Amino acid sequence: MAAPIVDIHTHVYTPAYLDMLRARKKVPYVHDPANDADSRLIILASDDDAGTPLDQRGRPVDASYSDIEVKLAFMRKHGITTSVISLANPWLDFLEVDDAQVWSEKINNDLEDTCATVNKNSGSTSDVKPLYAFGALPLSAPNPSVIVNEIKRLKTLAHMRGVIMGTSGLGKGLDDPNLDPVWASLEETQTLLFLHPHYGLPDEAFGGPEVTQRYGHVLPLALGFPLETTIAVTRMLLSGVFDRFPNIKILLAHSGGALPFLAGRIESCIAHERKFVANGGSTQGPVRDVWTVLNTNIYLDAVVYGEAGLKAAIHAAGGHERLLFGTDNPFFPPLSEEDATWPSVTTNYKAIEGTLSTDKEAVNAVLGGNAIRILNLN
Ligand code: URA
Ligand code: ZN
Repeated sequence: MAAPIVDIHTHVYTPAYLDMLRARKKVPYVHDPANDADSRLIILASDDDAGTPLDQRGRPVDASYSDIEVKLAFMRKHGITTSVISLANPWLDFLEVDDAQVWSEKINNDLEDTCATVNKNSGSTSDVKPLYAFGALPLSAPNPSVIVNEIKRLKTLAHMRGVIMGTSGLGKGLDDPNLDPVWASLEETQTLLFLHPHYGLPDEAFGGPEVTQRYGHVLPLALGFPLETTIAVTRMLLSGVFDRFPNIKILLAHSGGALPFLAGRIESCIAHERKFVANGGSTQGPVRDVWTVLNTNIYLDAVVYGEAGLKAAIHAAGGHERLLFGTDNPFFPPLSEEDATWPSVTTNYKAIEGTLSTDKEAVNAVLGGNAIRILNLN
């Protein structure tokens, strides 16, 4: 029997979530054109250009974002045996204080029900079932205790294997000391956090809004996303999160952005300034070094579309055992109807096979074995 292939980076917008976005008029929102054209998903700040007609803003959002049958067909087409689905960005970050708890419970219960139904109907006799999920957190809730309660509740749902979160935390980034109860709860419950970008970099980093618009989503997605992740994790490192919570487990999207490539430089800069003494500062710097954190707290997905990035990821993570296959479905669909498979997926397969080709066991580990072990899928 072929070795299992597990996709740990694959998103959904549940039907209820899309309806909630339909009722909104500011980012994030969904716009339904008057004609029969696909709805438009306007989720990035750069999508909402007042000079672009509403019917063309953002990107088309079709059934692949919300219909689990379409996800299952995508899995069959690409030989994926198991998916760990997660709500896509921007999750519940934007909700009003009073709405966060209700919505996170609703979304997480819907995800759990979807997994249970799909697995039951699959007739699968394997220990590893077709569908699991990462839960979403009520980060805008009035008190971190609401978030902690949801982390604990997720542990009672059979198909949940962790949580997904963006880089804004409670609104002030991931080095915010007010997040400590959340880190403590993730550590205590040994809940894996899938850390994923959404906000990118300010348009000014690319030359201003006009430049960002000119090149569609390329600058925000190719550079903004990975750098956002890199900055977020570096701020966690600098603020001592990994010293205070040495057993937290974090899976970084897109192979950690630029973190594997920059880890040496980050560590060197910290080493030269461990107490941040410049400008009269006296803040204690991190005690555990970047490499130790990468080898004990961090897992990386293999969504990097090239061998150079994958080699850096494997090296930084201390081996292929901490790398997990993903697709980022349904983002990056094929551009032509003739494509039998999605180039965004086959590029990742090729990079993994090209990088680890001589070691079939390592290929199978990255494609599925690591996820099964790390996420307790059996
Ligand atoms: N674009 C997004 O907005 N999210 C992803 O996860 C990938 C691409
Ligand atoms: Zn993603």
